[in-house]
Amino acid sequence: MNNKAPHTFALIGLAFILISGTIDLDNLFNYANQTKPIYIVKDNTPQNNVINDKTATLGRVLFYDKKLSANNTIACASCHQQENAFGDDATQSIGLDGGLTGRHSMRLINARFSDEEKFFWDERAVSLENQTTQPIQDHTEMGFSGTNGQEDINDLIVKLSEIDYYSELFNFAFGDKTITEERIQLALSQFIRSIQSFDSKYDIGRAMVTNPNTNFPNFTAQENQGKRLFRDPPNLGGAGCLGCHRGDEFDIDPNSRNNGIIGVAGSTSIDLTNFKAPTLRDLVNPDGNLNGPLMHDGSLTTLMEVINHYNEIPNNAANTDLDNRLRPGGNTQRLNLTNTEKLALEAFLKTLTGVDVYTNEKWSNPFDANENISLIGNSLATDDHKFGQTVTLFPNPVKEHLNIKVNTGDYLVTIFDLNGKKVFEQNISESDAMNLYRLRKGIYFLKLQNLDSKKIITKKFIKQ
Ligand code: HEC
Ligand code: HEC
Repeated sequence: MNNKAPHTFALIGLAFILISGTIDLDNLFNYANQTKPIYIVKDNTPQNNVINDKTATLGRVLFYDKKLSANNTIACASCHQQENAFGDDATQSIGLDGGLTGRHSMRLINARFSDEEKFFWDERAVSLENQTTQPIQDHTEMGFSGTNGQEDINDLIVKLSEIDYYSELFNFAFGDKTITEERIQLALSQFIRSIQSFDSKYDIGRAMVTNPNTNFPNFTAQENQGKRLFRDPPNLGGAGCLGCHRGDEFDIDPNSRNNGIIGVAGSTSIDLTNFKAPTLRDLVNPDGNLNGPLMHDGSLTTLMEVINHYNEIPNNAANTDLDNRLRPGGNTQRLNLTNTEKLALEAFLKTLTGVDVYTNEKWSNPFDANENISLIGNSLATDDHKFGQTVTLFPNPVKEHLNIKVNTGDYLVTIFDLNGKKVFEQNISESDAMNLYRLRKGIYFLKLQNLDSKKIITKKFIKQ
C-alpha cells in the first residue's frame, strides 16, 4: 500500500484553501482564446474591446467585489449568480439596503453571441460597455447614483483608487494604475463576454450534423420532435420559436417587439417596453431545475407555463406593441399544441443546458470568505510600483541561495509554504541572499515588507 497518498491529498486540500482568495498573475485563466463551435457566428464584441486575459481577470475581480456598492454589501454577482447561470432565482433581486429591482435579473451566459447589441430587457443600454456601469449608478442596485445624497461614480473611482489590488490590477490590464469609468466598463464587459456555455446536449448533437434541421443522432425521438416544433413556423405545424430566438445562439431577433408578457413584478401596472430576452440556453441547470423565474417580470415559473403562454397569447387590448408574428391575421396566436407536443418542446428546451459554466473556477468568486484577495506571481512587476522600483528574485526555481534585488530600503522577508505556515524569516536591505537549503521541495510564497512604509508585496517561487 502506498502510504504517501493520503498525505498528498491533505496537502492539495490545504493548498486549495490558501489559493482561494488568491489570483496568480503568472497563470491566468484562458478567457481570450476559448474554443467556440464553428456554427456560433454572432458576436457583439466591439473592435476596441477584444477580450484579453489580463483585462478579463480584472473584470472578474470587479464583478465579485462588494466594494462596488455604496455600503459594501452588493456585488454584480449578488444578482448574477454562477450557480443560476449568472441570473437570480429570486423574482426581484435584492439591492442596496434591501431595495428590490423593478425587473427580474437576466442570465449573463453567452451575452457575447448575439446580433442584438443593446442590453437590458427594454434595450435601454446601447452596448454592453455602456450597460456595465449602470447598475453601479442605480440608486437601488449599488448606490453610486449621485442623487438624493448618494455618492456618484467619481466617488467610487476615488474609493477604488485607494485599494492596493486595484492599483495593481488596473496597471496589469491597462499599463498604468489610473481608474476611469471607461476602464471599469471595458473590464467588466470582457469578463461578461467570456462567460460561455457550449457543452450542452444540443451542442453535441449539432456538431454531428451539417444542417440543424436534421434529426440529431444523440437526441431522443421526443427531443427531435421538440426541436422541429421549435424551428418550424406555425403555418407549417410548428411553434415558431426560432423566428425570434434564432440560430444556434438562441439569441433574440433585434427587431422583436413584445411577446405578450406585459406585467410588472410586484405591481399591477403594465410595461410594454420589453423586447429583449437573454439567450434561451441554460434556462434550466444541469439538474433540470429552472435558473430562476422567466420573463422580465419573472411571472412564468415553469417551462410548461412558457409553452402555454405562446400556445395561447393573451388577447389584451392594452397591449399595443405585441409583435405581429404573435398576431397572425390580426388575432392573438393560438398554436393548438397537443400535450405530447408541449412535452416535446419542453424536452427540447432542456437540451440547451451546459455543465462547465456552473462550476468553472475562471468565472467563480476570487475573494475569500473574509472578502480579501491577494495577488501573487513572480513576474509581478506591476506589484512593484508599491515600492516604486522593480524587485527581482533569482534564480527561480531555486536550489539553495535565493537572491533578492531591491535598490533601496530595509525589508522583512517572510516565506510561507502552501499551507500558509511561516517557514523562514530574515531582515534584508537592498540586495541580499537567503540560504534556503533547509526548505523542502515545493512552492512557496515570499512576502516582502518595507519596514518604513509597511507596504507588502508577495512573490512566488519554487524550491527544487
Ligand atoms: C441588485 C441586483 C443587480 C445588481 C447588483 C446587478 N444587476 Fe445586472 N441586472 C439586474 C436586473 C434586475 C437586470 C434587468 C434589468 C432591466 O432590464 O431593467 C440586470 C441586467 C443586466 C444585464 C443585461 C443583460 C442582457 O442580456 O441584456 C447585464 C449585462 C448586467 N445586468 C450586468 C451587471 C453588472 C456588470 C453588474 C455589476 C456592475 C450588475 N449587473 C449588477 C440585477 C442586478
Ligand atoms: C415574436 C417574437 C417571439 C417569439 C415568436 C417567441 N418569443 Fe420567446 N421571447 C420573446 C421576447 C421579446 C421575450 C422577452 C419577454 C419579456 O420578458 O418581456 C421572450 C422571452 C422568452 C423566454 C424567457 C427568457 C428568460 O430568460 O426569461 C422564453 C423561455 C421564451 N421566450 C421561449 C419561447 C418559446 C419556447 C417560443 C416558441 C413557442 C418563443 N419564445 C417564441 C420573443 C419571442
